[in-house]
Amino acid sequence: MIIAPSILSMDFSDTKKSVEALEASCAKWMHFDVMDGHFVPNLTFGPDILKAMKRSSSLLMDVHVMIADPMKYAPVFINAGADLYTFHYEAVESVEKMKELIHLIHNEGCKAGISIKPKTSVSVLDELINEVDLVLVMSVEPGFGGQKFDPNALNKISTLRQWIDERKLNCLIEVDGGINAETGKLCKESGVDVLVAGSYVFGGDIKERCESLC
Ligand code: DX5
Ligand code: ZN
Repeated sequence: MIIAPSILSMDFSDTKKSVEALEASCAKWMHFDVMDGHFVPNLTFGPDILKAMKRSSSLLMDVHVMIADPMKYAPVFINAGADLYTFHYEAVESVEKMKELIHLIHNEGCKAGISIKPKTSVSVLDELINEVDLVLVMSVEPGFGGQKFDPNALNKISTLRQWIDERKLNCLIEVDGGINAETGKLCKESGVDVLVAGSYVFGGDIKERCESLC
């Protein structure tokens, strides 16, 4: 299992200590939530913070953009150190534009991911899953950490697992929102590859909390 701690819940008064704890844990990725106050009603970090995190850590930078214009900012975040750039299905007007964005991300030498909000049907991904490196299933309404896991995400994960296995695709399934040891186990049983966890990981001993998910 790949663990991607979401730094949204990190203690920003002592990032060095938190990053060191992550480096010493079984987590291999760092989940970086970008919010623009438009696509979601919250604001978080921009590319300069990503650059700083990239410099201070060897973890894979898993950038989840909850922004209204993911096309415009893809090169910006990729240049700042994104290894994986995941945009929202709901933020792009057409499947054609999404495919264009995926190609742009790949041409910049980055992996591409697509995310769906809880109310978006998994069926919309049917024609896109062949193009991406990762699908991110939101198990809470994007915007804030510390919300309750929506069990509907489990059905979506099972469907995606089936498609990926049947079509022999090289695509990872990630889940984000309300993940702890208990909900993480349910997602694992449904076939998830990557667990994002923010408040759970940073709300206790970072290394121990990661280990309980690995
Ligand atoms: C929510 C973000 C998540 C968030 C998860 O919009 O995409 O990555 O940090 O936080 P928890 O794990 O606290 O639900
Ligand atoms: Zn996220």
